[in-house]
Amino acid sequence: MRQNTPRHFLDIHLLGTDTLRGILDTAHAMKRSGKRTPEKFRPSDIENTVLVMIFEKPSTRTRVSFDVGMRQLGGQTVMLNHTDLQLGRGETVADTARVLSRYADAIMLRANDHQTLLEFSENSSIPLINGLTDYSHPCQIMADIVTYEESKGPISGSTIAWVGDGNNVATSWMHAAVKFDFELRIGCPKKLSPAKEVVAWVKKHNGRVSISDSAREAVAGADCVVTDTWVSMGQKDARLRKALLAPYAVTQELMQAADPDAIFMHCLPAYRGNEVTTDVLEGPQSVVFDEAENRLHAQKAILSWCLGAGLSG
Ligand code: CP
Ligand code: NVA
Repeated sequence: MRQNTPRHFLDIHLLGTDTLRGILDTAHAMKRSGKRTPEKFRPSDIENTVLVMIFEKPSTRTRVSFDVGMRQLGGQTVMLNHTDLQLGRGETVADTARVLSRYADAIMLRANDHQTLLEFSENSSIPLINGLTDYSHPCQIMADIVTYEESKGPISGSTIAWVGDGNNVATSWMHAAVKFDFELRIGCPKKLSPAKEVVAWVKKHNGRVSISDSAREAVAGADCVVTDTWVSMGQKDARLRKALLAPYAVTQELMQAADPDAIFMHCLPAYRGNEVTTDVLEGPQSVVFDEAENRLHAQKAILSWCLGAGLSG
């Protein structure tokens, strides 16, 4: 379905809480019902539509969950590595977006540089979805909230601890803390603190986000402990990062500082023995594989919203 103003899903802070909550509720309901499509879904809005996916970096979960999700909704997919495109030979992002808008119905982009995503969105007349950039990973955090809520109840009013690198996934958690009104405590080395503009945005919106260099302080009494790789895709200073982040490993001992019923989340891929020990990742508090599954449910709800298939907002 062509829209006058495309419903881009670029970042959590750019959407209203009602829209975001509508997407989450749809994902929850779809998972609970065991049905492949949302309840108020209009199949005709997605039948024969095509999602083009472009990856500038590797992916397992995002790639497969979007592909499977789109097929379950009744649409089709085209999967491209950026080097398959003339983009890799110097065609502009703007021209690529304008051309693909004439063929497809929606685009999912995993970009090295967030600026590429923004430039793409300005030139795309069809919905564009952020499948991760160096700045943010909103689809992941939508799935993470589904995961939190199905195991612990509403995320509003809860306390989430982020331990480790102040990276792209942390940015989307910060956006979500404001939109869904929960406390986010970040424990990270000063040199790897979240981007200044995200901190400023949180402050402007009176978000309950604190940043300290103490993992223990961040985790104390928290309902959920989250971490991520110490070396994100495209980062070259692996040795320095590992040295800075060593005190932020999520161990069983650190988990004991959280609430006794706390859950552990990680977007995966995980590097056991670095950011998390095997006993935590494989232990009873870990919900990482539910979290991976929930990418599918959350993204089907995002696709339904983007394509206008019965979801308002
Ligand atoms: N969590 C996540 O986005 O995983 P992939 O890099 O495998 O897509
Ligand atoms: N922060 C990680 C997330 C991977 C899904 C990265 O950008 O590589």
